[in-house]
Formats: sequence, structure tokens, C-alpha cells
Amino acid sequence: MLLRTLFEHIEDWFDVVFGAKWNPFYQLGALGWFYYWIVVISGFYLYIFFDTGVTQAYQSLEYLTHEQWYAGGIMRSLHRYASDALVVMMIVHLLREFAMDRFRSPRWFAWFTGVPMLWLVFAAGISGYWMVWDQLAQYIAITTAEFLDAVPLFGEAIARNFLTDAKLSGRFFTLMVFVHIALPLFLLFVMWIHIQRHATPKVNPPKELAIATLSMLLILSFIKPALSQAPADLSIVPTTVNLDWFYMPIYPIMNNVSGLTVLIALIVATLLLMMVPWMPPGKRVPVAVVHLDNCNGCSRCAADCPFSAIDMAPRSDGSAYKLEAVVDANHCVSCGICVGSCPTATPFRTKSELSPGIELPEDKIKELREKTVAASSKLTGDDRVIVYGCQNSLDPSKMADAKVGVVTMPCIGMLPPSFIDFVLSKKLAEGVFLTGCRQGDCGYRLGIKWTDARLAGQRDPRIRKRVNQDRIGKYWAGMTRRKEFFKELTAFRLRLNKLDSAQLEDQNKTNNSSEKDNAQV
Ligand code: HEM
Ligand code: SF4
Ligand code: SF4
Repeated sequence: MLLRTLFEHIEDWFDVVFGAKWNPFYQLGALGWFYYWIVVISGFYLYIFFDTGVTQAYQSLEYLTHEQWYAGGIMRSLHRYASDALVVMMIVHLLREFAMDRFRSPRWFAWFTGVPMLWLVFAAGISGYWMVWDQLAQYIAITTAEFLDAVPLFGEAIARNFLTDAKLSGRFFTLMVFVHIALPLFLLFVMWIHIQRHATPKVNPPKELAIATLSMLLILSFIKPALSQAPADLSIVPTTVNLDWFYMPIYPIMNNVSGLTVLIALIVATLLLMMVPWMPPGKRVPVAVVHLDNCNGCSRCAADCPFSAIDMAPRSDGSAYKLEAVVDANHCVSCGICVGSCPTATPFRTKSELSPGIELPEDKIKELREKTVAASSKLTGDDRVIVYGCQNSLDPSKMADAKVGVVTMPCIGMLPPSFIDFVLSKKLAEGVFLTGCRQGDCGYRLGIKWTDARLAGQRDPRIRKRVNQDRIGKYWAGMTRRKEFFKELTAFRLRLNKLDSAQLEDQNKTNNSSEKDNAQV
């Protein structure tokens, strides 16, 4: 909780500077993909000029850096800085998903597949530094080889290969090139698996953010071009090398601790990291269930589910409809967004048992209606507001008073727009106010996006035209923006008051003129 609040406070400042759309914290995964492509494209250019050989490798990179600084030099710097940015993104992304609690239950999949990506990125980066064959490469090569020698897996001592230049061959560099290409290719495959459980995953940052990020990397490449250190010389032991701390924080430890200890520590850390999704407190909430009696096979729930948890299958109950919704319990995170999209989830239904085509067993649509009516019954005055909030952001129940009734649900995307119509047309309140996670950072990915689209009449189920949009307010508060939330709610109530006075005035005018008309007659 502490880590989450910290993230949200920092992100609030970024929201002020960048706006929600371009806040890099909300685009970490997409930025990771973007950095990856920069690394691949720049790497491809470097590969064209890279020469394999004990001295040629170093020389070819020196040529690129100094003789062809305007293209090769920039590409080399981009290659290095985008790789560093990838590490930063990965670590912040990991911490953030952890802080926001987005890794439990079916969301274990993205976490679990993220862990090998850490290893692949580090291994690919280190093999890249190795290929330069300068003193840093020499240091990495010998330290890594000594580490591997301590592992009782390899028969022959690998470190011996690095004792003299004569023992190193061009074949070795060819092997390194192969490893340095194979690892990122495999990484791409795992990155693809990583997002398989997300419907419409964000793999491209917004254009403006991509341009700004690329420009920053380019500026850095001009100001501080990536350089090699002195060429490797196996007859001396390098005394000082400048480490790339993004990729090599572990190397100083490897120098001081036995290889076996480091290996055991790494294995234990990896296993612990992989097990994080199953660590307490983990409560599995019952998943969405389909009521075939009320499912007409319209597919809206499948289109709106952010976790690809719904498939449309051929009808199994002999009904005239062709399809039916089927929930995959291993993918469903119980967000309720599918309930918000189901046309049969309407509070206007007069059937005694109000059960829609799909719903959450612990947050039934019938209960949502009952809670709405109960919240309204406690309200007094003529500027009553029903606040619908999500359980993932600030606790709106603390805002309830004589004029504000609060109803919460797992995600605001669970609210069918017909509920707003219900509240206003049945005069349960004068206004409806929606709140939830911050714009751009819905805890269930698409809840805010679909809610906005439904209210704007851009996505089914659309709000009915008869609903006065002036009576709907919203503020996406997250956990931290309590003060701003109250400010927005107060402003909304003032707007409602003005709206009511204006309507009253209009009504009086109409009444007066019809009285006059009657008098003339
Ligand atoms: C190369 C590194 C990585 C890239 C490019 C990457 C990319 C992505 C992308 C694009 C998403 C989907 C975002 C969305 O559309 O909502 C995602 C989600 C996720 N990632 Fe990563 N990721 C990386 C590394 C990691 C690591 C190391 C971890 C943790 C061990 C991790 C954990 C997660 C989790 C838990 C989610 C799912 C969040 C949810 O269910 O909403 N990722 N990642
Ligand atoms: S949205 Fe409702 S009616 Fe449509 S397929 Fe899904 S469960 Fe069935
Ligand atoms: S509750 Fe959420 S994750 Fe589960 S099926 Fe519905 S929309 Fe998909």
C-alpha cells in the first residue's frame, strides 16, 4: 500500500507535466516495446559493419564511432542508451505492477512470464558489451568465466580460454554475435507470450511520447556518445573499468563472493520472484458466470473483456440464438466489466429475479439496484447525488452524507449506463457522479475507457438520449486525489443547483405564458 501511494504521488506530478495521455508511468510496457525496436533497428545497422576477430571487432566499432560518427556513432549510442532505458523501464514496470497489485490470480501469467524476460535482457546486454572486446569486455569475460568455472556443470575451466590472445579465435566472436542476436529474438517471443492474456495490449506508446523519448535518446547520443574503453590486452589485468551500472551491478559482487554462492543467490531470487503471485494475502474472488436464459449471444461482453476471458461458443441450450458467452475461469479477474456491457443488465427489468446474461456472483446486478435504491432512500434535499465508485481507488463510502449516497463495485466499467438513466428517471437523485482509478491507469485496464465511450454514445450499451448529460459528473481520483475529488463533487452539485433553478425559471415562464394565453381566451 505504501509503495502504491508513493507511485501514485509521483505519477500525479507527472500527470501535471505530461497529462494523463503521455504520462510515461502509464505506458511502461509500451515504452519497453518501443526501446526494444530501437535496439533492434540500431543493432541491425551495427551488425552490417561489425567485424568478427580478436582485433577487428574493436577496430570496426572504433571506425563506426569516430569515422562514421554521424550515422554509425549515433546508432551505437542509440543502441546502448535504448538498452539502458529498457532495463530502467523493466525494473520500474515490475515494481509498479507489484505496487498496484496487478499480478495475482489469473494475472500471475504476465508476472510469471516477465521474470525470464529480466534474465534475457541482462544476458543480451552483457553479451553485447562482450563483443566490443575492450578492457570492460575483458573484465566481463574473465569474471563471467571464473563464475561459470565455479559452477560444477562445466568440465573444462572456461577462464583458461581468456588467458592469451592466441587462444581467442574469430570463431569465438562469431559465437558471441550469434548469442547476441539469438537472445533478443527469444526475448521477442517471450514478450509476445507476456501479453497474450491482454485484449488490445498497449505495445505502442502514443506518437508524441515516442517522438519525445526518441529525441531525448538522440540528444544524449550527441552529447555523450557511447565509446569503447582501451582495447583488451590479455597480458595485463585491467585495474579500473567503467561499468555500465544498468547491466552490471552484480559484477563487483561476483569479484568478492564465490561463484557458487552467487549462483545459488540468483536461483533463489528468481524462484522467489516467480512465486510472488501465489504469496499471501491472495484471495480468489468468484469469476463471472453466464445465465444462458438471459444471454442473447450478442458478443458485447467478449468484445469488452480486457483479459480475453470470454469466448463466444455455439449455443448449447437449443435456443434460437446462434452463440453464447463462455467464461474462462483461468483468465477471468472478476472485474465485472462484462456486466457493464451486457444489454440485459438493466435495472428497469421488471422480472422478479433480475439476472442478466452475465454477472459476478459476489456483486450481482440485483444487489447493485438494491444498493442504489437504499442509498437514495437516505438522501434528503433537492441536490441529491448518487456516487458510483470503484473499489480499487479511494474509498468513496466515506463521502456519504445526507446529500450524497455511495455505491461501489469492483470496477466502474461494471456499471451499465442504464443505471444512470434509472437513477435520474426514477428521481432517486438529481445527479449521478462517477469515480474510479486515475484516467489512463484503470486497475482493470479498460474500465474507464469503456465507461467514457458508453457515456459519449460511442460504444454499446450507449446511454439513452433522453438522459440529460449535464446531470452526470465524473472524476477519476485514484487513491490520492481525495481533495480534488471533493472539489469536483462540490462543483458538480453547484452545477446541479443552477440547472434546477434554470429549469424552474423556464417552467415558471411557460406556466405564466400559458396562464396569460388562457386569460386572453
Ligand atoms: C522487456 C520487458 C517487458 C516488456 C516490454 C513488458 C511489456 C508489457 C506490456 C506491453 C504489458 C501490457 C500492458 C497493458 O496493455 O495493459 C505488460 C503487462 C504486465 N507486465 Fe510486463 N513487460 C516487461 C517486463 C515485465 C516484468 C519483468 C514483469 C514482472 C516480473 C512484468 C509484469 C507484468 C504484469 C504483471 C503485467 C500485467 C498487468 C495487468 O494484468 O494489467 N513485465 N507488460
Ligand atoms: S453481453 Fe450479455 S447477452 Fe451479450 S453475449 Fe455477453 S452475456 Fe450474452
Ligand atoms: S469479470 Fe472482467 S475478466 Fe471476467 S469475464 Fe468479465 S470482463 Fe472479463
